[in-house]
Amino acid sequence: MKIVISMGGSIIASPSPSRNIDIIKDFAKLLVDYYNRGHRLFVVVGGGQLARDYIRVAKELGADERYCDEIGIRATRMNAMLLVAALGKWAYEDILDDIRDDSRLEDDFGISRIFVMGGVRPGQTTDAVAARLASKIKADLLINATNVDGVYDRDPNENPDARKFDKLSYDGLLEIVGEKHRAGVNTVIDPTAARIIREDKIKTIVLNGKRLENLRDAIDGRACVGTVITE
Ligand SMILES: Nc1ncnc2c1ncn2[C@@H]1O[C@H](COP(=O)(O)OP(=O)(O)OP(=O)(O)O)[C@@H](O)[C@H]1O
Ligand SMILES: [Mg+2]
Repeated sequence: MKIVISMGGSIIASPSPSRNIDIIKDFAKLLVDYYNRGHRLFVVVGGGQLARDYIRVAKELGADERYCDEIGIRATRMNAMLLVAALGKWAYEDILDDIRDDSRLEDDFGISRIFVMGGVRPGQTTDAVAARLASKIKADLLINATNVDGVYDRDPNENPDARKFDKLSYDGLLEIVGEKHRAGVNTVIDPTAARIIREDKIKTIVLNGKRLENLRDAIDGRACVGTVITE
């Protein structure tokens, strides 16, 4: 299978990567395991606390939105590089700076090694990059690994009685995350990514990336704790 994993910075880099060394190591082990079973794996790493801290400070220092995004992208790439460090010879060392017009993506990337990247350009979250990548390589599965157990009817961190969906339609996902990104509004998948997922009918599973058994269940096709998004 061709699998794209959007690995939340919330898992790797919050509150700081030094607190997540074991999970980065275990995630790398899991990736190598599935790679050696013949899967093609593409991981897009998010920014987490590192990105948010830098963006907040840059804003306070007077940076505009685009510049803040540039800083955030660099943070995602730093996080991606930690995963590359843990993967060693199993990953391509260079973090790709764009997915457009890159023939390597179709020709080889994912076959010779595990593919890891961060954000690519301002105005686009790593969720959206992962969805674009999944659509470009015609992935069989997109996994959105984050710090909650799936998609809920409301933010579970703010509403203790929020209810998790085991399954959700593409339209249902868009209803929850909203059609358009609104600054400061925290969503489990960003609306641009949700639109790409609906348009290209990408089979997507949102799950808690802190528990790696969830990822195994999702890839192996077992019932998993998470939210399956299909038609
Ligand atoms: N309907 C919802 N269902 C689930 N989580 C939600 C919902 N609405 C908002 N959230 C929030 O989304 C958060 C996850 O997204 P967040 O962007 O913080 O992490 P991430 O995407 O894993 O990491 P990063 O963006 O740093 O790469 C959850 O902790 C939760 O508070
Ligand atoms: Mg996010």
